[in-house]
Order: sequence, then structure tokens, then C-alpha cells
Amino acid sequence: MIPDKVPKEDVFHGSEDLKKTAHIPSFEIYKELYLKSIENPDEFWGDIAKDFFWKTNHTGPFLDYNFDVTKGEIFIKFMEGASTNICYNILDRNVHERKLGEKVAFYWEGNEPGDALTVTYRELLQKVCRFANVLKSQGVKKGDAVSIYMPMVVELVVAMLACVRIGAVHSIVFAGFSAESLCERIMDSQCSLLITADGFYRGDKLINLKLLADEALQKCREKGFSIQRCIMLKHLSKEAEETLLGSQSPPAKRPCSDLQVPWNPEVDLCWHALVRGASDECEPEWCASEDPLFILYTSGSTGKPKGVLHTVSGYMLYTATTFKLVFDYQPDDVYWCTADIGWITGHSYITYGPLANGATSVLFEGLPTYPDVSRMWEIVDKYHVSKFYTAPTAIRLLMKYGREPVQKYKRESLKLLGTVGEPINPEAWHWYYSVVGEKRCPIVDTFWQTETGGHVLTPLPAATPMKPGSATFPFFGVVPAILNESGEELEGPSDGYLVFKQPWPGMMRTVYGNQQRFETIYFKKFPGYYVTGDGCRRDKDGYYWITGRIDDMLNVSGHLLSTAEVESALVEHQAVVEAAVVGRPHPVKGESLYCFVTLTDGVTFNRTLEAELRKQVREKIGAIATPDFIQNAPALPKTRSGKIMRRVLRKIACDERDLGDISTLADSSVVEQLFHNRCRMAV
Ligand code: WTA
Repeated sequence: MIPDKVPKEDVFHGSEDLKKTAHIPSFEIYKELYLKSIENPDEFWGDIAKDFFWKTNHTGPFLDYNFDVTKGEIFIKFMEGASTNICYNILDRNVHERKLGEKVAFYWEGNEPGDALTVTYRELLQKVCRFANVLKSQGVKKGDAVSIYMPMVVELVVAMLACVRIGAVHSIVFAGFSAESLCERIMDSQCSLLITADGFYRGDKLINLKLLADEALQKCREKGFSIQRCIMLKHLSKEAEETLLGSQSPPAKRPCSDLQVPWNPEVDLCWHALVRGASDECEPEWCASEDPLFILYTSGSTGKPKGVLHTVSGYMLYTATTFKLVFDYQPDDVYWCTADIGWITGHSYITYGPLANGATSVLFEGLPTYPDVSRMWEIVDKYHVSKFYTAPTAIRLLMKYGREPVQKYKRESLKLLGTVGEPINPEAWHWYYSVVGEKRCPIVDTFWQTETGGHVLTPLPAATPMKPGSATFPFFGVVPAILNESGEELEGPSDGYLVFKQPWPGMMRTVYGNQQRFETIYFKKFPGYYVTGDGCRRDKDGYYWITGRIDDMLNVSGHLLSTAEVESALVEHQAVVEAAVVGRPHPVKGESLYCFVTLTDGVTFNRTLEAELRKQVREKIGAIATPDFIQNAPALPKTRSGKIMRRVLRKIACDERDLGDISTLADSSVVEQLFHNRCRMAV
């Protein structure tokens, strides 16, 4: 599977400088260790586990599992019998044993330039302990779920780690999601408490987060589910000023006195008031290896989001190890991942992986284009960022503005670049490599999923020769295969379904509260394998190339969206009787949403209705799901049995006339009409 030799053409190599100090300095060493990791996982992970604190040791094998639905329930167990606490491992040990108390954990950079804070490991530990005591005083116990709906502020990390410290299970909902989406996630997780903030700025735009949180809680009540407590952080209003750690005073845009924050005295509690009286001491709760750590919702192809559940020990070791080796972490690095903590990338590679390694990270609240398109590079220079991790969509966005905004800043500190979220097109890869990294920095194109917990296909920067657009080879412990439609494993160069043959420590354990759904989605199609839902090609050198989703999911700006979810938001509008949504390639976002709607008799399609529909989707799901194109479809192309032919709709959306076999279409005149009226420009 791993080649003996990688050809010299079309490949790029990490710098000689990097190789001198790299953890995995050559492809030979990678291959050797890889073999060990899959042939003898106990020894491989056993060595890694020695670097962590265990309250009790494991009693069984490192990995125990069943991937085959025909043989019984699917399960994955790692280090059974062991107990630990992640918060203790990533904070207390860094402060007390590794003497990193005064090291910066986060450089927080606000939306507005000049609004910044520095938080050391010692300060972070203190804040986490205090807030953990607050949670306890509010009755939160080990195993309870807590929902968190917050902007990118240090307190978001504090809230999540406070949960971890007391063994509670956090469920973070991205602050860009709508009230409806938050309500759905609160109800599914059955959490007893919500943590939120008053509001925040995204670029110029003020978001009243508390208003959305209240709306969500009201919707929950209407559906018969009441949350007893909601803790609100004042990020924009006056009190924020008093609790600032740094000496810098907030810029003009913060605090924002005119923010009208709704307050319900029966439910709402003020973060600052609670923390003021809390103790700095909080004994960690020791958790078993397979105790739940967190739930994170990701789009499901049926439209209902899935609560991906990760557990304690495996996730801790896996995120720590991938962070260390994939970014080749060195103690003097300043690392910056631009993702939001509301997504898995932020969980694994802003919070858990970097802190487990005692790293210094940038935590950025703002946007790459605010106040101008140089912001990223300004921040790179300001903090001397050495390792930079972002999404292809951000690169394509910045590419549009040319080299000048990049070259305004020196970027001398950069040593490594990374991407995540979607395949990176070679043009964007080359721009990132040459313009941003000045051909000095290797690019790690990391393929993974919310479900995988951490990187699963990825180059190692000093070891793996890179091919632009390929996520290259498996990480340690990961065994990929490519299957054809009949479930046969393909050898050599091939194209098909990407699956994994055995678990690695950081993979998901179940869909929260729905084991049946977990098995159906990931294990039913090909018994014996975990099915990623992605298509993949393996080339003659054994490199893996992700070819995109093969289910009804779209990848818009690196975010997975289910077409079913958008369709159901559209048909909830009284003017719409049927909707079908497909992806259309987009130069920056990767894919855009092209929606076909069939209207109720007598309703006319016009700009006002179009705007209402866009608003409807935004309010139901969130701004990331806003339709780019909406086409009036008096009828949809269907088979004689009534199934919508999405394949044909995709062709119409892209204006591709070669439709292939359409003999199963009930009425082919529908297609002509749709071609005729297709949208040419996004709204
Ligand atoms: C896609 C994000 C190609 C893929 C960490 C996957 C990628 C989905 C890459 C998971 C990559 C992620 N190359 N495709 N480097 N990284 N994807 O759960 O389709 O938000 O299944 O996790 O993103 O998205 P999720």
C-alpha cells in the first residue's frame, strides 16, 4: 500500500532545515512506524500513552472492536480499565510538571485590530477551575450534557475544559447556526444547561447571540423541553472590560453599550458574577477511557444532524499525536488554526491537540477580510506564527485579491502550512505554496472528518513527498481501502469508496443516543468497514486523492451540508410544495447551493419570494446554508416511480447538455423547460 519509492516529478519535498529537527524525518521512518502502528497497535499506542497521566492503568488490550454488522453490535474500545482526565493532562501537568505555567497558551486576537489578550497556561488553568466550580454549583454532574453557543473567545475554551474537568459532556454549537438549529441540538443532547454570550462582531456585523439563544430556548419550551439555566458571558457589554486579563483597553467597537440583551431572571445567570465568588481549586473528575467526552453535531444525509460522540482516552492520544507529528510541533512554535471551535477542526486542533503539547496558539475571533484582505498576514507577522492551518476556501478567497496584500507583510516566521475541509485544487495549492509560503513551507493537506476525530490521511511534513491536491497517505494506525460498488477491495490504482478497515484511537464511538443510526450510516453498506461517504482515487504511486462526497452532502466553504436539510427548510415555506437542492461548482466556496422549487398553485415566482426563501433557509439552518441560486421549477425531472433525478438537476445547474441515459424519465419535456429557465447568476 505504501510505495517503496516515490517518483521525483510533480512532487514537492519538505525543506532540509525541517528534516534536521523533525519528529519523523524521512519517508523510510514513516513507513517503518506505520507498519508497527497497524501490526502492533498495543506497543505503538502504549509508548505514546506513557507521556500521559493515568489515574488507573488499562487492563485489556489497547484496541478492541467489531466493525462487522453481521457479527453483532459495532463497538470500538480503547484502553479499557484506564482512567484519566484530559483537562488535568493538558493544563495541570503543563503548569506543574512541565513548568509551562508562564508560557502563553493563547494569543487571543479580536475581530477589531488592536483588541487582543494573552493567556498563559497558569491563567487558563485558574479560569477553568473557577468555571468548573461554577458548573458544579449549578448542579452539573459527571455525564451531564452541557450546550455551548459562544463566539471565538478564550471563555469558550474555558467553558469546554471546565466541562471536561468535572466529567460533563460538552456539545458546542457553532455561533453561526440559527436559533432553530440550536434548539434541535439542545433537544437531541437533552442538556440541562446552556452557556452563551451577549453578542459579538463578525467584521462589521453585530450579532446579538443572546437573542438567538433565547429564541432557541423558547422553541425548546414549545416542544416540551425546558432548560433550567443559561449562563451568559458579557463579551461586548460593560462588564467585559473589568474581567479582561490584558492591560489593553477594548477598542471602539467593544464594549457595545447599545446592545439590547434580553434577560430572563428565572433562567439567566451572569458568567462574571458566578466566577467572582468561585474557588481556584477544583479536583478533576477521573473518567474511564470510554466515558463520553463530547458530542458534536454534523450534517446527516437524511437532514437530521447526527451527534457524533467522542470518548476520553482515544481522542486525547490521537489529537495529541496527530498535532505533534502532522504539524511537526516544536516548543518554540506559534501555531494558528483559523477554524472556529464550533467545528471539529477547532475542537481537535485549537483546543485539545495544541494544549496537550503545551503549544502556543493564536485564537482569532475575526474574518480573513476584515478590516482588509491582509488581516491574516498581519496577524502572522504580529505573533510570529510558524505553523498556519486554514481551509482551501479561505485561500481561494484571498487569491482573488492577488499577491500584493500578502506581500505587504513579511511572513518570515512561517515554516509550515496546512489545509483542511475539502480537496484543495492544484491552482490554490500552488498559490498557497509559492505566494504565501514562498516555496519554503511544506503543505499538509489533511483529510479527516468530525467522525474521525483527527487527521486520517495526511502528509508528514519532513517525510512525505507532496503532490498538490492529494492528502497522500494514512496516518499511524489508519488502514484505508478503496471498494467498488459490490464491496470488493480494489488493489493498485483505482477509484471507488473510501473506507477504513480497523479503528484508530480517535474515531467516533456512536451517534449520541442512536446506535442504530451509527451502524446504518457507517457500517451497513459494506460490512466489516467504516464507510467515510467520500469517493477516492489511488494513483500508481499509492497516493490517495479525495474526489468528493458520494452521498447527498454538499461541501460549501469547507462545511458539510445535507441537501435534505436545505430542502426541508424550503418546503416549510407555504409557497413551496417541493424542492430539490444540488451542488454547483463555485470558484471560492467549492460548491454553491442551487435550489429548484415547485410552487403552490397560483403563487408567482418573483424577487420577493426568492428573498423570503433565502431568509427562510438562513433562519432555519444558518447563514452558511443560504441558497446561491433559486430556480422556479414548475415540475421536477422524475423517474416513473416518482424519484427525483438529481443527476439531471446537477447537469441543469451547470448547464451541461450531455445528460447521459434519461430513458427512465417520466416526462422529458420537464428537462427542456428547466434548461430554458436556468439561473445564470447567483443572487
Ligand atoms: C471533506 C472536517 C478532501 C470530506 C475536518 C470529508 C476533505 C468532510 C478534506 C468532513 C481534505 C475534509 N481533502 N476532502 N483534506 N478534509 N474533507 O466533518 O468530504 O466537517 O468527508 O470535518 O470534508 O467534514 P467535517
